[in-house]
Amino acid sequence: MQKTTQLGSDRAYDILRSEHQPLDAIFAPQSIAVIGASEHEGSVGRTVLWNLISHPFGGTVFPVNPKRHSVLGIKAYPNIAAVPEPVDLAIVITPAPTVPSVIGECVDAGVKGAIVISAGFNEAGDRGAELEQQLLQHLRRSKLRLIGPNCLGIRPEDEPLMIQFHQTLSEESVYFRYFHLIKLSQRVAHERLTRICFIDYDREMALIADYRNPQTEQHEILAVGRLSKLHGTNAAEFAMLVSDRFQCRGLGTQLLQQLLQVGRDEHLERICAEILSDNGAMQRVCEKLGFQIYRAQDASVVRAEIVL
Ligand SMILES: CC(C)(COP(=O)(O)OP(=O)(O)OC[C@H]1O[C@@H](n2cnc3c(N)ncnc32)[C@H](O)[C@@H]1OP(=O)(O)O)[C@@H](O)C(=O)NCCC(=O)NCCS
Repeated sequence: MQKTTQLGSDRAYDILRSEHQPLDAIFAPQSIAVIGASEHEGSVGRTVLWNLISHPFGGTVFPVNPKRHSVLGIKAYPNIAAVPEPVDLAIVITPAPTVPSVIGECVDAGVKGAIVISAGFNEAGDRGAELEQQLLQHLRRSKLRLIGPNCLGIRPEDEPLMIQFHQTLSEESVYFRYFHLIKLSQRVAHERLTRICFIDYDREMALIADYRNPQTEQHEILAVGRLSKLHGTNAAEFAMLVSDRFQCRGLGTQLLQQLLQVGRDEHLERICAEILSDNGAMQRVCEKLGFQIYRAQDASVVRAEIVL
């Protein structure tokens, strides 16, 4: 399940009152501070920093680590206030209890956007909820845009591909996937794609079938499958969507098979989905892969379920 902090009427959620392109700091930063950058093999702090320096994004990276003078060979700073240049985006990977003060320091330093990867907030009981409130206090006094907490990864490069993908879908496919029609303009709205292009890997997994045209080297998304853990259970729900041109060629079956494997790897007990009764193709794919199909009380839907 994706986790986005609901900020209600908070300034951080109020797009209309903000300046021009407030999400540029997150999607097109000129400078990134990695707070909690680390050299520990296998740590998220190392992976994030390594990804940023091995796939240059065109800006400057500042590791922040109070205990080291350098991380992966790059000069490190003890805190965000010590970073000598303005920072567009802070990626925060410090223990949850430290995150509110880290974000407070980011606000004071004029950082424009932050992605908090650290877990241990609302999802972790009363103490975590309290930390999340402290985090919100800092956001309320600032214009800083925050993604998270407890979220990993953002793939801004997926957004244009997702727009193209949605342009390939018929109304029937959209109806089968979402159970009602959603206009193309709504489906590809930047705010919506921002939400679906980042994933909380603790609770959600998305797989994409990507085709690279060997002549043009252009990529195209052919299908998207998603597995979302159901709250408080060891089960997950799947959803999938195959581009109309590529339906009935075995892609949906392949994708669902892969999602089942992800479920097994994650030691889930079962995977299920609600499917519209007249969606014969989806039910057929489920049957082929061993799902049981149950009639629901509402005759317009059926429930597919497989025990792993
Ligand atoms: C449902 C969907 C994901 C299936 O993907 P796909 O790539 O077309 O699936 P496959 O080609 O692997 O398999 C489709 C199977 O359904 C069968 N089928 C197609 N239309 C059918 C229909 N109206 N009734 C019964 N079976 C049908 C195909 O013959 C094929 O079975 P077969 O391999 O035994 O011949 C895809 O059609 C899609 O994205 N639909 C729109 C969105 C959607 O319905 N999402 C699911 C919401 S949970």
